[in-house]
Amino acid sequence: MTYGHVDKETGEYVIERPDTPTPWINYLGEGVYGGIVSNTGGGYSFYKDPKNRRVTRYRYNAVPDDQPGRYVYLQDRSSGEYWSPTWQPVKEDVDDYECRHGPGYTTIESKYDGIAAEMTYFVPLGEDCELWVLDVENVGEGTRQLGAFSYVEFSFPDALADQTNLDWTGQIMRARVDEESGVIEAYSSAEEISYTHATSAEVVGFDTQRREFVGQYGSLEEPAVLEAGAARNSQATHDNVIGSFEHDLELEPGESERIVFMTAPERDDDRIAKYDDPSVIESEFEALQAEWDDYLSTLQVETPDAEMNTMLNVWNPIQCRSTLYWSRTASRYQAGLGRGMGTRDSSQDTLSIVHAVPDQVRETLEMLWKLQFPDGHAWHQVYPLSGEGDAGLATEDPSKPQWFSDDHLFLVLGTVQYLKETGDYDFLEADIPFEDGSTGTVREHIERAIEFTDEHRGTHGLPRMGYADWNDSLNPDDGSGEAASVMVAMMYCRVLKEVADLYEFLGEDDRAAELRTQRAEESERIDDHAWDGEWYTRAYDDDGRVIGSASEDYQQISLNTQTWAALGGLDDERAERAMESAHERLNTEYGFALLDPPWEGEGTIDRIGGTTTYPPGAKENGGIFCHAHTWSVVAAGLLGDGERAHQYYRQLLPLAHDDVADLRRVEPYVYCQNVLGPAHEEFGVAKNSWLTGTASWAYVGATQYLLGVRPTFDGLVIDPTIPAEWDGFEMEREFRGATYEIAVENPDGVESGVASVEVDGEKVDGDVVPAFEDGGSHEVRVVMG
Ligand code: GLC
Repeated sequence: MTYGHVDKETGEYVIERPDTPTPWINYLGEGVYGGIVSNTGGGYSFYKDPKNRRVTRYRYNAVPDDQPGRYVYLQDRSSGEYWSPTWQPVKEDVDDYECRHGPGYTTIESKYDGIAAEMTYFVPLGEDCELWVLDVENVGEGTRQLGAFSYVEFSFPDALADQTNLDWTGQIMRARVDEESGVIEAYSSAEEISYTHATSAEVVGFDTQRREFVGQYGSLEEPAVLEAGAARNSQATHDNVIGSFEHDLELEPGESERIVFMTAPERDDDRIAKYDDPSVIESEFEALQAEWDDYLSTLQVETPDAEMNTMLNVWNPIQCRSTLYWSRTASRYQAGLGRGMGTRDSSQDTLSIVHAVPDQVRETLEMLWKLQFPDGHAWHQVYPLSGEGDAGLATEDPSKPQWFSDDHLFLVLGTVQYLKETGDYDFLEADIPFEDGSTGTVREHIERAIEFTDEHRGTHGLPRMGYADWNDSLNPDDGSGEAASVMVAMMYCRVLKEVADLYEFLGEDDRAAELRTQRAEESERIDDHAWDGEWYTRAYDDDGRVIGSASEDYQQISLNTQTWAALGGLDDERAERAMESAHERLNTEYGFALLDPPWEGEGTIDRIGGTTTYPPGAKENGGIFCHAHTWSVVAAGLLGDGERAHQYYRQLLPLAHDDVADLRRVEPYVYCQNVLGPAHEEFGVAKNSWLTGTASWAYVGATQYLLGVRPTFDGLVIDPTIPAEWDGFEMEREFRGATYEIAVENPDGVESGVASVEVDGEKVDGDVVPAFEDGGSHEVRVVMG
């Protein structure tokens, strides 16, 4: 069954029925105040930090699912019948239900018994508050008397305490209606908070105590206040605090009324007064849309693949923004209680978005570089509110190394990408503290990162594993000094090449040459020790025993070292063979399994670690790990295989899965982190949507390696790898303040290769279009062949 479609005009994803296989959500806000909202109004809000500044409450893993949310109940005053225009929580059989998720907003509308109602949720630009705009229209006959009741359930700011220390939080959270302004204010005697809920309409009743609104044994589906048809005017002196206003609506046939509800993490009377006037809503909403249009317009494509176009023009960049804002903290799968931002994760998140928000990326990189120790490795995790870091996952097992072998390398890759995109080479000389307070320039930070990997080596001289590399659950390093990562060796090759290219561009040929020598040595070590015959091995354990070899029973082949062979620029023939082996052994209709065969048996296998806690086919144990899959698009692009690049791209493409939504369950407009793999009983079920590095790399893979337009130190390389049957494509892209209108033609039906490039009518040698940095617009015509 399909549950929705893309609106071709607006790019919105339109959900046509409320009972989606899982709640299909959207993000509100621009990284400061915001939250998640589902297609039935479920979700919650937070301010700056989902863990320490939680504003409204959400019950994860609860029955019923996806509650509470931002609700309104409508009631027919004469019959007493009531319903929710967003379907939840009453779940009455509404007609003409439709939910539209768009950039920064969600609209849910439905009809019931002659009343059409529409709720639009959004966070106005630059404001720390959310608006729920309710439009109610009498589309039936006869005058209607209606009641409208809002409902928001406040959380204690410390979201963990809100769930674990109910006596404390339940004593000190209180709520009241401020008599003068009529605003509901949730406050506490211990912390300085004043969460507010306000309304633009005349109030006939209110509630602030959940027990009174819902009834001790009532439910959000059948709350006591709606059963009675009147608010109880409760003032919450303790327990669970809510905000609810009751309104009267009298509507003649054809008449409609708008009520604007506002929820905010801080009381601000001017703001409340502003939204008292519903007519400001249109301009606020337009301003928000204009800001998103600006963001999205920085790169737009027109290819023969319509679903790819919608993903690249709308949904993929929306998701990339959410991952940059919220890293892996708050989604339907991450309860916003634990993890801060990952050094590795956020470094990768910057890759897809740097052309659109370079300043924000620079800030992110500065924050992350501060987590680097003088020896070159970096904290694994950072808490953006305090700027403090820690070893993240590694702290769960203090007997293992408390560092990861890849964090600092991803930081270098993110930084070089920033330089290529912006040309801001002064950044290299910016002073940034190390973790111990000493200071170094960005260039020094990069050098220390390189040094750390160079100085920490295991079996065969390959980089030592540390707690893990990109794969958090590959933990063979118990301290003997043998455990090593082939993937990191390949990443290191890429880092060395990128930094050598940078130095060469800056005219520092000696250092560039040294790094190239180092790179050649690393690549030789990989070829001498990690080539398994048909593919590359994955790692070595603490006894120096191989992981990821045909000679073993489990995990004979791993995806990451086959893709990264191409990303690391290793021997072409082997890289091709490696990808061919991955294709044969690991590829499925929903993407590449991470390894094969998966580990089986009882308990954790110590020499491997976390991977072996998963059943076969789940997550890192042979699941389709979507983030890792995206590197197959990059690899196919680098190897010039356009058919495969596009095939792999589509295997993961959310919009290509509308018709298998019942199997996949997750939203078909954003990427998810993992799909149960072929060895699992429920192969194809997808999980953990929204906050995943898949978003960034899927975008980079498609725009830079499939469509092949990627920034370099002095221009834009245009080197597409596309299916032979494509006759071309177009891309409009911002680059260093100028707009490039790129038209690629493929008259001979090739998959890769560029025959000629013209810029503004003039022929250019090679495939690099210059960085004009002139604020102008430039026409680029590329003929493949
Ligand atoms: C999760 C983590 C990411 C890690 C991946 C593979 O997505 O957020 O940092 O690389 O799992 O283990």
